[in-house]
Amino acid sequence: MTFAATILTLYPEMFPGPLGVSLAGRALSDGKWSCRPVQIREFATDKHRSVDDTPAGGGVGMVMRADVLAAALDASAVPGAPVLAMTPRGKPLTQERVRVIASGPGVTILCGRFEGIDERLYEGRPQIEPVSIGDYILSGGETAAIVLLDACIRLLPGVMGAPDSGEDESFETGLLEYPHYTRPVEWEGRTIPEVLRSGDHAKIAAWRKNQAEIDTRLRRPDLWERHEGARVQSPSGAHAKKRDQRT
Ligand code: ADE
Repeated sequence: MTFAATILTLYPEMFPGPLGVSLAGRALSDGKWSCRPVQIREFATDKHRSVDDTPAGGGVGMVMRADVLAAALDASAVPGAPVLAMTPRGKPLTQERVRVIASGPGVTILCGRFEGIDERLYEGRPQIEPVSIGDYILSGGETAAIVLLDACIRLLPGVMGAPDSGEDESFETGLLEYPHYTRPVEWEGRTIPEVLRSGDHAKIAAWRKNQAEIDTRLRRPDLWERHEGARVQSPSGAHAKKRDQRT
């Protein structure tokens, strides 16, 4: 089955962009996903083809028009797929949400530009989910859409080499992933930790789990707190099970 991505944008030439090379590019040529950028301006109705206007109440910049965006969306949405609007005002994207989207028929993505989108679009089309990829401001939703699609595409069946290679990754276990090493065994006087060269798989798993916990605690206290909270509340829950399997 092909995962269908329709992207509503003022810059259709940005797609597939970086998704046209490497893993995602190969998956695109293999028909595992499709990429359909739609030019929002084609749905403008006035003689200037305007897609934006000045903010009601005053202020800087321009606001995307609800009527033009609704017409573009109504004509182009992927049937049965979620509709996302990329905006820093959205709900933060998570690996969990990415997994659900990737397991469905596709996604319709609306890329915001300028100061934002007329709020009435969200009221009139309540299926639209505003999504943010992080607490920083991009120049438009297109690069955020590329991030979201990249995260989905790598999870599509047959796209990543080894079917299990995602299981231990950061966020899938509620922890950051453990650190990696490869040859040469010694580089600038630094050697690969002895345990990783021991061939003792139980010891290696225990070491990796410990390293993942240390790094999560130091770098992502927010994730660590949630992880510990889940462990204390439900010792037989999913997190506890995953941890047991690794030791
Ligand atoms: N558009 C601008 N900034 C964004 C962000 N952080 N996430 C999603 N869309 C955006």
